[in-house]
Amino acid sequence: MTLELTDVHVSFGNVRAVAGVSLTLASGSRMGIIGPNGSGKSTLINAISGIVRATGSIVIDGQRLRSGSPQGAAWRGISRTYQTPQTFTKLSVIENVMLAVRAAETRGPATWFQRGEYRRTVAALEFLTTVGLADLAEESAAILTYGQQQALALARALATGPKVLLLDEPAAGLNSAETEALSHTLQTVNDAGVSILLVEHKMDFVSALCPRVAVLAAGKLVADGPPAEVLSRPDVIDAYLGVPHHA
Ligand SMILES: Nc1ncnc2c1ncn2[C@@H]1O[C@H](COP(=O)(O)OP(=O)(O)OP(=O)(O)O)[C@@H](O)[C@H]1O
Ligand SMILES: [Mg+2]
Repeated sequence: MTLELTDVHVSFGNVRAVAGVSLTLASGSRMGIIGPNGSGKSTLINAISGIVRATGSIVIDGQRLRSGSPQGAAWRGISRTYQTPQTFTKLSVIENVMLAVRAAETRGPATWFQRGEYRRTVAALEFLTTVGLADLAEESAAILTYGQQQALALARALATGPKVLLLDEPAAGLNSAETEALSHTLQTVNDAGVSILLVEHKMDFVSALCPRVAVLAAGKLVADGPPAEVLSRPDVIDAYLGVPHHA
């Protein structure tokens, strides 16, 4: 499942949040997106997932995505997590995932075969096992720590049966054990064939997980390559200098 962006632009009034980004995420690959605060990373993910309208083209396996259509993106196999985990705190942990399974039944072809409450439960438990939350399945989502909420949000994203997973700072706010567990989970997910596009400020985490990293600065891609090479480039270091980032 190749994702191909060509000359993607997103503007908010006078703010050019994404200013002509072209990149290709090869099928089954893992790629990191880094860059200072406000450089357009979240907006780029929002454009791919159809949350905001963009110009230029976003093509997945030869099919062009309609701009500003979250349903269209989901239907084509794009799933995502948010910078702030989105979960339903009034529901149990497993109900959160079952809702995502049910949504996928109507929104996309991936998990249509899960129909039926028993099958949904089994499927949801499997996703919770993947992210390490199976033991908490019947607890209220309200009792989860921040790191566990992120894990639940990831389980919900996986429940839609994605071909491409977009992650917006999934390791922010996680302790080192949680970060390591997340890294392991994402490797497992990627090994199963899901392509991963990862926005992140934690350089060690991105470098370990992604053989390729792209750098955004003021809405433009300024570097793209292996992490060790990209992170030692003077223009990349300059792009970060003097800019506060929440690691
Ligand atoms: N919905 C919006 N309306 C107006 N401006 C926006 C909106 N979303 C983002 N922006 C602006 O677009 C620019 C890029 O923001 P974006 O959130 O994509 O940056 P980011 O790289 O994700 O930053 P951070 O590392 O802080 O998460 C910023 O100037 C931001 O203020
Ligand atoms: Mg952001």
